[in-house]
Amino acid sequence: MTEKPGSFVKSYGCQMNVYDSGRIGDLLGEAGFAARSELDQADIIVLNTCHIREKASEKIYSELGLIRQMKEERAREGRNLVVGVAGCLAQAEGEEILRRAGAVDFVIGPQSYHRLPQVLDDVRKGARPFVGEFDTQEKFDELARRAPRRRGDATAFVTVQEGCDKFCSFCVVPYTRGPETSRPVAEIIAEVEQLAAQGVREITLIGQNVNAYVFADGATRWTLARLFERLSEMKDIVRLRYTTSHPLDMGDDLIEAHRDLPKLAPYLHLPVQSGSDRILRAMNRRHDAKLYRDLIARIRTARPDIALSSDFIVGFPGETDEDFEATMALVRDIGFASAFSFKYSMRPGTPGAERADQVAEDVKKARLAALQGLLEEQRVAFNQACIGRTFDVLFEKPGRHAGQIIGKSPYLQSVNVDAPATLIGQMRRVVIERPGSNSLFGRIHQAEKAA
Ligand code: SAH
Ligand code: SF4
Ligand code: F3S
Repeated sequence: MTEKPGSFVKSYGCQMNVYDSGRIGDLLGEAGFAARSELDQADIIVLNTCHIREKASEKIYSELGLIRQMKEERAREGRNLVVGVAGCLAQAEGEEILRRAGAVDFVIGPQSYHRLPQVLDDVRKGARPFVGEFDTQEKFDELARRAPRRRGDATAFVTVQEGCDKFCSFCVVPYTRGPETSRPVAEIIAEVEQLAAQGVREITLIGQNVNAYVFADGATRWTLARLFERLSEMKDIVRLRYTTSHPLDMGDDLIEAHRDLPKLAPYLHLPVQSGSDRILRAMNRRHDAKLYRDLIARIRTARPDIALSSDFIVGFPGETDEDFEATMALVRDIGFASAFSFKYSMRPGTPGAERADQVAEDVKKARLAALQGLLEEQRVAFNQACIGRTFDVLFEKPGRHAGQIIGKSPYLQSVNVDAPATLIGQMRRVVIERPGSNSLFGRIHQAEKAA
């Protein structure tokens, strides 16, 4: 028996891409390719790309340069290597990729990769297709026809919503992912049931604006909160999470879900981008800093131990020292357990890129360093405050050292514990003993050992 040809899918960017990369791998599996862990063992390579900042796009063109060399070496040995580009860069620069990168055989956008079988056929016939339609509903239906492949993980992402109608003036996502589309509730429930049957215990519902989820099923209007209520009833699912949310879609029922559903993790990633009303307006975020502060106050009333996370952009065009100081003040006032922060990056085709008042690179750099310094202080303080507390930890994988396993706390911290690998895939009470640089160390609670 000859060995199956190999596939390698490389994921860049956000969780949506991580999920999509898994499903692209499933489709390649059906087409006869076996997943490989190394690039050079693959007969087909798909780069699932990101376009969010300039750096993300540059990285992919340089990766394509290396792949071209690989492909030329293979050709000299008389072997073929098929190269595909998927994801948001594919959507934004499809034609240009085909022109610039001769090694690329096909380009497929993030809302049409369910057409991969057809595309592979076309490539076999010698074509170099670019498929870039926004077929989000069709993509959902197509994905629902196949069960996600067994991966043996304790946690899984499930896409419930894709696309964005918000058009923040810095962001490419509405152009690369198309309009907001919610997935039918029956498909989501079926997928979670399949995952639970495979041993998955924690589900993270994902979407570009996941809390904008809305689906009408007869007379029933499904929101994200109602979906969590339904998924909470599954006994094999012990923890639920979601990301990424928009402040304007933070409905009352979702805030109440944090109060009422024990399985919903006390963790919220809610990007604010800036603490300055002037900049928020220029960013077209459609809310001010007060709305964000009030929301956080209400969420903390509903679930006092909630850990908060956010995204920030420094150096948006026109941002003054005073605007930046407003962001620092907001961070100081609210206090975040973790956060992502970025220097503003000009993206072609977005309104922000047209502005004449771009902020100088060295100013952006200094502001980012100051903001990240403050956020890091808060992260360390949050972890420090966890020492001595007892958390439910869902174990996911072996640790770096023998005899150690790693899991996640409710607050999304990695926790290292000396415990048998048989606990991977299970949740245990863990006493937190000390902080590491990027994680925590703990021990299984005595009462659980006896049990
Ligand atoms: N839908 C989410 C986030 C999507 S992109 C939301 O609305 O918050 C993830 C993060 O990348 C954004 O929150 C933003 O902080 C950052 N980002 C997006 N475009 C950017 C740009 N042009 N420059 C720098 N950071 C950017
Ligand atoms: Fe981008 Fe704004 Fe949409 Fe988030 S809400 S994906 S930042 S346009
Ligand atoms: Fe990047 Fe597209 Fe996600 S631009 S962040 S991969 S939605």
